[in-house]
Amino acid sequence: MTEPALVLKSVTAGYGDVPIVRDFSASLQAGSITTLIGGNGAGKSTLLRAIYGTNRLFSGQILFKGDAIERLPPWERLKRGVGFVPQGRCNFPAMSVAENLKMGCYTLPGSVHDAAIDRVTSAFPMLSQKWRTEAGNLSGGEQQILEMAMVMLVEPALLLLDEPSLGLSPKMQGDVFATVQRIAATGVTVLIVEQNVRGALLISDGALVMEQGRLFMEGPAQQVRTDPRIRQAYLGGNIQQTAA
Ligand SMILES: Nc1ncnc2c1ncn2[C@@H]1O[C@H](COP(=O)(O)OP(=O)(O)OP(=O)(O)O)[C@@H](O)[C@H]1O
Ligand SMILES: [Mg+2]
Repeated sequence: MTEPALVLKSVTAGYGDVPIVRDFSASLQAGSITTLIGGNGAGKSTLLRAIYGTNRLFSGQILFKGDAIERLPPWERLKRGVGFVPQGRCNFPAMSVAENLKMGCYTLPGSVHDAAIDRVTSAFPMLSQKWRTEAGNLSGGEQQILEMAMVMLVEPALLLLDEPSLGLSPKMQGDVFATVQRIAATGVTVLIVEQNVRGALLISDGALVMEQGRLFMEGPAQQVRTDPRIRQAYLGGNIQQTAA
């Protein structure tokens, strides 16, 4: 087995003096998709922010590709390949798709901007089709794909996604999940928080379940998906077993 892309060692993180995530340990294999499951307020977004470096880490270690990154500022983590798409869509709604992509290149040297934009527009052809459209006029699913594409400009090795399908129709949720699968197929490690737990588990290799900031369960997505406690708490108690 290869070295894990991300290792969390007893991470305790939160805001001000209040720890929210406590003693959380996990390990993600390179190129895998992992769903982070938990109820509202469990601390899922807090954990993603702690990995990216935008909230307080009280204690613990975050190893990315073998290196401790927990003391680095977010932009340094981004440079090393940690990409984060926070909850809520569309950073620059009044700007066109083209302008949004240019903004997304801001951490890259000018000489590679065109190549980076070409790369993501070939991966996501919708972006070329909507090149001059204001981002705020894209559909919800298209906006989400634009947000992911903006992070993909910097070729992250790890992609942290917070609720990418929130508020989208089932069809658009499917598009977003398919996009996530395509990104992971290129070797990118994905950690995804999703309100559509069932949909996320179907595209995931592994699952982490968080309750009140602590790791409650971890395992292969298929196994977690069929656990009676998880079905009851997060999958609407539906006992029906799907073949997938
Ligand atoms: N900026 C902040 N300052 C102080 N407390 C915060 C802040 N953001 C979140 N919290 C608190 O941290 C706890 C966990 O919040 P978090 O957003 O991580 O939960 P979550 O699992 O992502 O929930 P949801 O599913 O609703 O998005 C909550 O009690 C919340 O009130
Ligand atoms: Mg959240």
